[in-house]
Amino acid sequence: MKNIDWKHLPFQYYKTDYNVRCYYRDGKWGELEVSDSEYIELHMAATCLHYGQEIFEGLKAYRGKDNKIRLFRLEENAKRMNRSAQGILMQELPIELFKEAVIKAVKLNEEYVPPYGTGATLYIRPLLIGIGPEVGVRPAKSYMFVVFVCPVGPYFRDGFNPVDIMICRDHDRAAPQGTGCYKVGGNYAASLTSLKIAHDSGFATSLYLDAREKKYIDEAGPANFFGIKNNMYVTPESKSILPSITNMSLMDLARDLGMKVERRPVPLEELETFEEAGACGTAAVITPIRKIVDPEKNKFYTFCADNKPGPVSSRLYNLLVSIQFGDEPDKHGWITLVE
Ligand code: PLP
Ligand code: COI
Repeated sequence: MKNIDWKHLPFQYYKTDYNVRCYYRDGKWGELEVSDSEYIELHMAATCLHYGQEIFEGLKAYRGKDNKIRLFRLEENAKRMNRSAQGILMQELPIELFKEAVIKAVKLNEEYVPPYGTGATLYIRPLLIGIGPEVGVRPAKSYMFVVFVCPVGPYFRDGFNPVDIMICRDHDRAAPQGTGCYKVGGNYAASLTSLKIAHDSGFATSLYLDAREKKYIDEAGPANFFGIKNNMYVTPESKSILPSITNMSLMDLARDLGMKVERRPVPLEELETFEEAGACGTAAVITPIRKIVDPEKNKFYTFCADNKPGPVSSRLYNLLVSIQFGDEPDKHGWITLVE
């Protein structure tokens, strides 16, 4: 294994040895290629550069106590990438090709998969871009698929510790009928200003409200939102949020724990009734929320009174990461072993 300070890894780019690439040209996908270059050569008129034909995914590889490497719900990421591709008229990728490329990228960089117990994981970033030259607004005819990996620590600096987040009412991440439910780069460009405002004001991230009425909760930066009350897991249903694979898994785990699960529009005022609140995603895992501030309305909502993660969030977190690292049996069939 590489000699890296695994326990203090930030969530940021880290050069590893290889990446995997594949091209769609002349109506068909080619063979997977292995590269040791961090750079790609692009036509200056590529549609990804001008018209945002760019989608990506995010998943992780986890090293267990048994030293085996596990991937979590790989097929769900493959399916979501294809939904994103359909959403902005890009070429879809065969599911098996996606899986093969991810597994190959992890295996080739096996020495960068952090040791068990360090809190670090190997973040996997699959990327699909339009590379064909166009000047008129239309989809490219050729595409490039790339998978690179980086060892990372927790996305929110404090890991499984409560954070404060902020509502920025004058910035929307996605339009009601727009691309918010796809993992397209443009959504993240649209979120940068509100993230900067939140960070500059001392908050971990921003909480997006529905763009049409600003009445309902959408999501929490690069993560979905959930609230807990009366043995119930409540999470927003909205056309403009990314369907999180972590959230989908937490809903199943909450049901396993005998909780009721509600996925429906969540009015902002309902925040007052939650006993616990959290942000969830591959990078965020579960990040408990301590306080949500709504500066324009001069209001705030607090959870985690004793500044500690709540009991239900803690149980869900422990269960989720135990499955990911192989400490709990994989009852739901979510794990792919990298062999
Ligand atoms: N919402 C957004 C906007 C995201 O970027 C992500 C990260 O992928 C999530 C939610 C969480 O999704 P997942 O749990 O599939 O990582
Ligand atoms: C993830 O959770 O995998 C994400 O893609 C979030 C990311 C934008 C950092």
